Amino acid sequence: MSIEQLADTARAMVAPGKGIIAIDESTATIAKRFESVGIPNNEENRRAYRELLLTTPKLGEYISGAILYDETIRQTTKAGVPFTKVMAENGIIPGIKVDKGTQALAGFAGELVTEGLDGLRARLEEYYKLGARFAKWRAVINIGDDTPSGTCIEANSHALARFAALCQEQGLVPMVEPEVLMDGDHDIETSYEVHEVVLRSLFDALFNQNVMLEGTILKASMVVPGKDSGEEAAVEEVAESTLMCLKSSVPAILPGIVFLSGGQGDEQATAHLDAMNRLGPNPWTLSFSYGRAMQSAALRLWSQDLAGNVGKAQQTVYARARANGLAALGKWNEGA
Ligand code: 13P
Repeated sequence: MSIEQLADTARAMVAPGKGIIAIDESTATIAKRFESVGIPNNEENRRAYRELLLTTPKLGEYISGAILYDETIRQTTKAGVPFTKVMAENGIIPGIKVDKGTQALAGFAGELVTEGLDGLRARLEEYYKLGARFAKWRAVINIGDDTPSGTCIEANSHALARFAALCQEQGLVPMVEPEVLMDGDHDIETSYEVHEVVLRSLFDALFNQNVMLEGTILKASMVVPGKDSGEEAAVEEVAESTLMCLKSSVPAILPGIVFLSGGQGDEQATAHLDAMNRLGPNPWTLSFSYGRAMQSAALRLWSQDLAGNVGKAQQTVYARARANGLAALGKWNEGA
């Protein structure tokens, strides 16, 4: 796989006015989402729900790619059409979550390291054959009184970079995601400082592992005050802090940065992205890779009438995609 092909895929993932829908919840995570609205977590419900999302009419107008989970990339619509085929027909690039989740980092209380490198080359080879053209790995960084430690940041950056190098070897664009959690009572300055250290460490590690940034996408969290800080940051403040932090730590050759929503409200996530793009031009395309902020309204509607509300739920998915697509251009108007 040439770097040109990887770069083409990366650029397509952040095509103007388009972003990614994250539907890569592990079976344990989707169980939590289903439980919150009273849906039994079984394979058929997971399949039906992912079918609802992926067959949303005209989704490809605003969605360039979707991140799937191992079970999902192998599933089909009720009529037997592979999800990857449905996606290809709508111009949506299949992506795959390949990390195996977090484990406690030995010796560092309260800190996590993401696992999944063993056997990754063979898994990526299979996912490519199944149609995936990009892959995601999520590291989790907790802000606390004494965290994150340098060791935790380094261990996670190293794993992210090893993952990225393996992806490029196998022809998949790596989406590297160092998520700094919103949980905690820290202020926005602390969030800024942690993001800066984490991102600098990540790009150092990517350089050390010979990862080609032209064929890489960063999935980033935004610089926001901790959920329990009692602080409310204005949209402009979040946009300015996040942008300044990214400019100080992310090389301009990277084609795009997509954001996770991380527990922000649906419209809040849209407003933040929109504001960052209004502050442009920026060195990289800034778009979205939202999970909850794309899906939560649809999931609620679907839970009220599984068979009867598919169309209504799809309308909300389309509306969220459109709002975020406009925000990726800095053209979103609240309520539009
Ligand atoms: P949220 O937008 O719900 O944070 O999910 C995005 C994601 O894929 C986190 O890894």
